[in-house]
Amino acid sequence: MKIQINGNINEYYVQTLCMLFFSGVKFSKTDNGESDGLSADVSVTDFGTGAAATVTLKTEKGIATCTHSEQKSIGAKVSAEQIACGKAFFEAGKKLTGITPSWGILTGVRPAKLAIGGIVDETSKKEVRDSLTREYLVTPKKASLVTEIAAIEKKLLEKADTSACSLYISIPFCPSRCSYCSFVSFTSAKLLGLLDSYLIRLCQEINQTIDCIENLGIKIATVYIGGGTPTTLNEKQLEILLDTITARIDPSTLQEFTVEAGRPDTITSEKLNIIKNHGVTRVSINTQTLNDDVLEIVGRKHTAADFYRAFEMARKAEIPVINTDLIAGLPGEGFGSFSETIDAMIKLRPENLTFHTLCIKNAADFAHNKANINAWHTFNETSKCVDYSQLSAKNAGYIPYYIYRQKNTVDNLENVGFALPGTEGLYNIYMMEEIHSIFAVGAGAVSKMVSRDGRTIERIFEYKYPYEYLAETNGLKNEEKVKKINEFYQNIW
Ligand SMILES: C[S@@+](CC[C@H](N)C(=O)[O-])C[C@H]1O[C@@H](n2cnc3c(N)ncnc32)[C@H](O)[C@@H]1O
Ligand code: SF4
Repeated sequence: MKIQINGNINEYYVQTLCMLFFSGVKFSKTDNGESDGLSADVSVTDFGTGAAATVTLKTEKGIATCTHSEQKSIGAKVSAEQIACGKAFFEAGKKLTGITPSWGILTGVRPAKLAIGGIVDETSKKEVRDSLTREYLVTPKKASLVTEIAAIEKKLLEKADTSACSLYISIPFCPSRCSYCSFVSFTSAKLLGLLDSYLIRLCQEINQTIDCIENLGIKIATVYIGGGTPTTLNEKQLEILLDTITARIDPSTLQEFTVEAGRPDTITSEKLNIIKNHGVTRVSINTQTLNDDVLEIVGRKHTAADFYRAFEMARKAEIPVINTDLIAGLPGEGFGSFSETIDAMIKLRPENLTFHTLCIKNAADFAHNKANINAWHTFNETSKCVDYSQLSAKNAGYIPYYIYRQKNTVDNLENVGFALPGTEGLYNIYMMEEIHSIFAVGAGAVSKMVSRDGRTIERIFEYKYPYEYLAETNGLKNEEKVKKINEFYQNIW
């Protein structure tokens, strides 16, 4: 897609607006032979008391032009130029494609963060809802959802210690790759062969990071071992990892300790008992769908029966909170099949249910198959699946407690975490609402330093790949990372 901009508007913002109507689109500066016939012409002018924007969108099938003027308002979070551009774009896109994005021109990944600041009481909740529909053209249904989540988060955050931190430990390995997966995770036999050395280096870094946290005098509120699939580690490796953590942190002082086990085909009773005996309070046992045909299409390498077995093992191990991830919009899955999965999951009653909407990133194998992409573009039942999952969970007593959005999800839909009251995954909220620093360790890990007032955020990237992490090339050495952290706490925090 070719983008032409005239005026004071950020190109990245225009690209995200394009993605609302043309999912998975690639951008090019020129209209050369590789062009897909799509173009966006944006022109924005400041007229003193406000801004006016004209947007022309073109596809091979047609052309649409729309104009919008927006008055400047004191204390507005977004400039009049941006709102004028967004609204003109929204109208042109709607006219040309017939699509009405349910999140309007709200493009950020953390919609609750925007809403949370405005919520004080019931009256202000209504004002926040109204302003989301009026200023960002969000549908009333989505505006109500995000306001409800923001109000729940606000209550949970009132009890949170903003001077504490969380610790994230990255295990970017899986036994095999699922075709839709966009996460950095390694499955080749060669890299899986590095697991023992990875673990040695990881345990070293865990100790160095906890030293750094202790020297700064910060409390650790939550620990999250994520992936990939952490239970790719065998029983012995898992024991070494958890011993290293619990030798330094007493789990009873933590608010939450999560292991994102994930794929049922990696889970054994022994691993779950090791997890439980180390004081882990929350575990993810995921299936994404209970339809065996869909599981096979997406290469999950497990069946619904395997999931039920792993879930039962986690119940027997008496880990207090079990979370299960599901995805709406997987290839080959329509409303009938997805709603059966939802009904069965509600019956199974895990403490947490996290509903994702399929997102296609270039990193996913799936994204390189044109037939898949075409099927995905014409698929229109996902919105119904998302509505059904949210409604069923609410009717069964679950509350929606965190929300995030990604670019290039089917129909621009959202991801929402539901919990039985009192079992909300706190790390998810702390991370999403950026209330305190996340110290991350391992390959692909990104530490996020958050100032006390939440206004300054600094990301510290490490080594992307496990072999770089092991060789300590192409990344930040641990001493350099600790130095950056110390500087942040001395100068900014
Ligand atoms: C970091 S992944 C790890 C989970 C674990 N390895 C598993 O597959 O069970 C966390 C969750 O992200 C979701 N996810 C991964 N790729 C996705 C995609 N392309 N679109 C939507 N959700 C996705 C899945 O629900 C997955 O359980
Ligand atoms: S979805 Fe989970 S198991 Fe599948 S490749 Fe991604 S991280 Fe690994």
